Amino acid sequence: MPKVDMRMHFAGVSMKNPIVVASGTYGFGREFGEFYNIGQLGGICCKGLTFTPREGNPPPRVAETPMGILNSVGLQNPGVDAFIANELPELRKHDSCIIANISGNTPEEYAIMSKKLSDAGVDMIEVNVSCPNVKCGGLQYGVVPELAAEVTEAVKKSASVPVMVKLSPNVTDITVIAKAVESAGADAVSLINTVRGMRIDVKTRRPVLRMNTGGLSGPAVLPIAVRMVWEVSNAVQIPVLGMGGISSGEDAAQMMLAGASAVAVGTANFVNPFAALQVRDELEAIAAAQNLSSVTELTGGICPW
Ligand SMILES: Cc1cc2nc3c(=O)[nH]c(=O)nc-3n(C[C@H](O)[C@H](O)[C@H](O)COP(=O)(O)O)c2cc1C
Repeated sequence: MPKVDMRMHFAGVSMKNPIVVASGTYGFGREFGEFYNIGQLGGICCKGLTFTPREGNPPPRVAETPMGILNSVGLQNPGVDAFIANELPELRKHDSCIIANISGNTPEEYAIMSKKLSDAGVDMIEVNVSCPNVKCGGLQYGVVPELAAEVTEAVKKSASVPVMVKLSPNVTDITVIAKAVESAGADAVSLINTVRGMRIDVKTRRPVLRMNTGGLSGPAVLPIAVRMVWEVSNAVQIPVLGMGGISSGEDAAQMMLAGASAVAVGTANFVNPFAALQVRDELEAIAAAQNLSSVTELTGGICPW
């Protein structure tokens, strides 16, 4: 089969392929680096960072569901300064696009973190305005267009690298938020974050998660994510990083046909540490079987009825 060019440009950043690993499902790459060279990935999106370290929510905070998991980890992380000092130098040894994911309590916190991370040499900033598992910050910014725009503007003013805003699926119309952050200067959008859900233990009659509710991810959310990526791609001009339930090349191809320029693999990393590389290889095989010379030809290639 002819070779497919897997290289692509995403919001001004060159990537060796369109496969990224999703924030919160890959830590800072250390554990996966014991299995393979993580520099083979198009991009590595790091665990969500906050201004100060966070312990996250009390357990139980992860539970299985049919075709997915519910989590309420609550942004456990060492804080932005410890990331820059201890994790970024290790990550920089790999030839992959390093994306820092940030969550703040105020637009000012988002701005300060963006400046520190740009100065420290990350390739891109992903602004999480959509975490369903923290009491302050996070989700409220992602569900109100004006607030999402305010955070985006603050980050754009202080970041010297491309800025991608991560959208929540927990809204009535995701295109309204996507348009608001595009107008505020976002260079790209990523979607979807987890879908709010709940499980109850029938014997104890208690919610399974200590925080009562959590975010659903994994194959169960793929059709929701494909639909939202399609809607957003039709509503904005900036590139889309599509994620939510991807665990095969076929899933990734669907997401790209719906309009995504690149895709992220999340929960599948927990099931199989090699998942992201397998998705890459399967995607390449699909593109080759369709006689494409570049994987980018899939983006937006959906055919209307
Ligand atoms: C355990 C866990 C932790 C996560 N932590 C973050 C995070 O810190 N920041 C963020 O933006 N998204 C976070 N996410 C959301 C994922 O990046 C991704 O958007 C979502 O899981 C959908 O993709 P998937 O179905 O492939 O996992 C987390 C997801 C999981 C399962």
